[in-house]
Amino acid sequence: MTASPLPSGRKWPVAVLGATGAVGQTFIRLLVDHPWFEVAEVAASERSEGKPYSEAARWIEGSMPESVARMIVQPVDPSRISSPIAFSALDSSVAGDVERAFAMAGKFVLSNAKNFRMEQDVPLVIPEVNADHLQLLDRQRRERGWKGAIVTNANCAATVAAVALAPLEEKFGIDRLFMTTMQAVSGAGYPGVPSLDILGNVIPYIADEEPKLEREMTKLLGRYEDGAIQKAPMKVSTHTNRVAVEHGHTVCITVSFRNPATLDQALDALRSWKGDESTWNLPSRPAHPLVVADEPNRPQPRRDVNAGGGMTVTVGRVRPDPILDIRMVALGHNTIRGAAGGSVLNAELLAATGRLPSA
Ligand SMILES: NC(=O)c1ccc[n+]([C@@H]2O[C@H](COP(=O)([O-])OP(=O)(O)OC[C@H]3O[C@@H](n4cnc5c(N)ncnc54)[C@H](OP(=O)(O)O)[C@@H]3O)[C@@H](O)[C@H]2O)c1
Repeated sequence: MTASPLPSGRKWPVAVLGATGAVGQTFIRLLVDHPWFEVAEVAASERSEGKPYSEAARWIEGSMPESVARMIVQPVDPSRISSPIAFSALDSSVAGDVERAFAMAGKFVLSNAKNFRMEQDVPLVIPEVNADHLQLLDRQRRERGWKGAIVTNANCAATVAAVALAPLEEKFGIDRLFMTTMQAVSGAGYPGVPSLDILGNVIPYIADEEPKLEREMTKLLGRYEDGAIQKAPMKVSTHTNRVAVEHGHTVCITVSFRNPATLDQALDALRSWKGDESTWNLPSRPAHPLVVADEPNRPQPRRDVNAGGGMTVTVGRVRPDPILDIRMVALGHNTIRGAAGGSVLNAELLAATGRLPSA
C-alpha cells in the first residue's frame, strides 16, 4: 500500500455526505481500510439525522463496518462537520446548496452529483483521462473566493465510455460518437426502480441521462488550456436504457475518427493505454484502468464488473463498422468506477499533488 502523503503516515479524516444511500455505502466500503483517508463522520437527511448509522442505513452489500455502524448520522451542515474533506453522495435535489456551503466553509468536496459538473471553473475529473483538469481549481478559488473547493466526477455511464474512448481520442481524435447504454438498477440508487417495473423488462428512458452523457463526454475528453476546458469537438448521440442487471453499465459504442485509423491501430491504442502518469501510484488506481477482452462474448456484467476491484473498464467486440469507423462494447462498475471509487481516486490525486489541506 502506498504510504499517506501526510507526516508520519497519518490519515485525513473524511465525512461522507449522503452516507446512507447506494453510493454513500460504497464510499464506506471503499474507505474502511483506505491507507490515506478515514471515515470520521457520516451525514444524511433529516430522516436519518441523530440515529446510529446502523439504524439509519439499510445496508445493501456484505457486512456494515463496525467502526461506522456506531456513528451518529449528522445533518448535512458544514458547521456540524469537522473533517476537511467531504465525499458527497447526495441526491441532486440537495447537492447544489449543500456542496456550495461546504466549499465556502473551507471543505474539499468530492461530488458525485450533476449540479456542478458543467460549471466552467469546476473540474470534471477521471484521473487517468484528464488529471490536468484539476488546474481549474486555481480559477475556481480566485473567482468564487471559496476557501475549499468542489471537484466532480462524471455521470456513471459517461465515465465508462470516457475511459474506453480516451485512448482513441488521444491518438486519432473522435469526430462522431454514437452510444447505446444498458444500465444497472443500482444506478438509480436505493430502493431505486420498483422490482415490478424492471424484472423481465427493459425501460428505454432514464430521466435526464442522455443530455448528461452527451454534454459530459465533450468536457471529459476536452483539453485544459489557459484556465478553461476546450471541449472535444465531437458530435455525440445516445440512447439510454435501464435493464435488469444489479451492477455494471454496458455501453455499445460506434465512432468515426478525425484522422484515419485501421482496426489494428485502434486495438493497439486501446491495449497500450496506461492512463495519466500522475495516477500510476495512487492506491485506488487499478493496475489496468482499461482491459481489452478477446473473447467474442465479453464484456458481461456478471463476469467482468468487478475487474480491478470495480475500477477497470472492460472493452470487447472491437470491430470495423460499415457506417462509421469502429464499434465496440464497454462495461464498468457504476457505483465504484462510476461513482464512489472515482471520487476516492480524485481525492487521492488531490492529495498526491499537494492540493489537500494538511489535516
Ligand atoms: N448510483 C449510481 O450508480 C450513481 C453513479 C454516479 C453518480 N450518482 C449520483 O450520486 C448521488 C447519490 O446517488 P445514490 O444512487 O446513492 O442515491 P440514493 O441511494 O437515493 O441516496 C441518496 C442519499 O442522499 C441523501 N439525501 C436525500 N435527500 C436529502 C436531503 N434533503 N438532505 C440530506 N441528504 C439527503 C439520502 O439520505 P437519507 O437516507 O437520509 O434519505 C441518501 O443518503 C446522486 O446525485 C446520483 O445522481 C449515482
